[in-house]
Amino acid sequence: MSNRFLAVIPDFITDDLKPEREILGDIAEVVALGAHSEDELAGRIETADTIILYHDVSLTRHTIQRLEHCRLIVRGGVGIDNIDHRFARQRGITVANVPDYGSEEVADTAITMMLALARGVHLMNSRLRSAEGAWNHHHAVPLVRLRGRVFGVVGLGRIGTAAALRAKALGMDVAFYDPYKPDGYDKALGIRRVESFDDLLRQSLVVSVHCPLTDETRHTFNAETIALMPPRSYLVNTARGGIVDVAALPDAIASGQLAGAGIDVLEIEPPSEDHPLIVAWRDPSHPAHERLLINPHAAFYSEEGLLDIRTKSATACRRALTGLPIRNVVN
Ligand code: NAI
Repeated sequence: MSNRFLAVIPDFITDDLKPEREILGDIAEVVALGAHSEDELAGRIETADTIILYHDVSLTRHTIQRLEHCRLIVRGGVGIDNIDHRFARQRGITVANVPDYGSEEVADTAITMMLALARGVHLMNSRLRSAEGAWNHHHAVPLVRLRGRVFGVVGLGRIGTAAALRAKALGMDVAFYDPYKPDGYDKALGIRRVESFDDLLRQSLVVSVHCPLTDETRHTFNAETIALMPPRSYLVNTARGGIVDVAALPDAIASGQLAGAGIDVLEIEPPSEDHPLIVAWRDPSHPAHERLLINPHAAFYSEEGLLDIRTKSATACRRALTGLPIRNVVN
């Protein structure tokens, strides 16, 4: 019997595991399961010493209670909403994340989605490609100048701050709502703090969501709150699907309440074909067809960022297995 440790990667990574094996290979066997649901983990994860979890599956109490001697679960990423980290703590299992790999990429995606929508780039490209209408800007009328308009950030953490700085560079009036951020960041960044979520919505031409998914933030964007935003505003969500009730978006766009929405993350990924958002997005006759940008939870991704997550996650496992203190513990 081998006395090497076992490092299990349940989901998302299915290639040759070179980055992980370079860091862990001398002390641990590294195994990737390529699972798409938690059920697929049964019988394959119980003896893991460390686990590197991405975002295709969840680790609930059901699986965590069967782990025999796991020391560390690393979330290869930031959001920890797919791990029952409190229950893991009760079982003495440390949960850590990797907060420093893709903040800039996610902020770049949020700004890209805003610009593509607010400059009409996507809409005009789509219409002209299908040979619809005249070769002029009338497809996108009216577009407004971004300089001086409010870019509202919900959640001024790492990514929210990176997005705020980018919007500031575009000359926008950047405001944020974040009840947990100590005072002073408004001064340090030269942006405005807004005390209530509703107030932020009321003033923003663009709202960009950068808070975590928690019981408090679930569906905070819904038909009622979106109605607080100015007519013909934009909503961009690169944080977590459950924060925005996307079923409200087709009607909000059809009524002109929103002029567009950029959605990188959905509550269930991939979404079902008959989800109202997907149906409207695919339907050329629906007003949301060209005013919705949907991406497959890809905002984090760049070659450099992905390698960062993999090496940082594997390094965290190595530290746990060799008895060193763990960084970025979240439970
Ligand atoms: P962070 O922890 O640095 O920042 C989150 C901020 O949200 C904190 O300042 C916190 O105080 C604030 N916050 C918490 N509850 C709030 C509430 N109820 N209302 C307003 N603000 C609240 O996290 P980071 O790294 O900036 O990540 C932000 C989000 O982006 C997370 O939801 C994460 O899951 C998501 N994410 C998405 C990726 C993608 O590929 N689309 C990749 C990486 C992160």
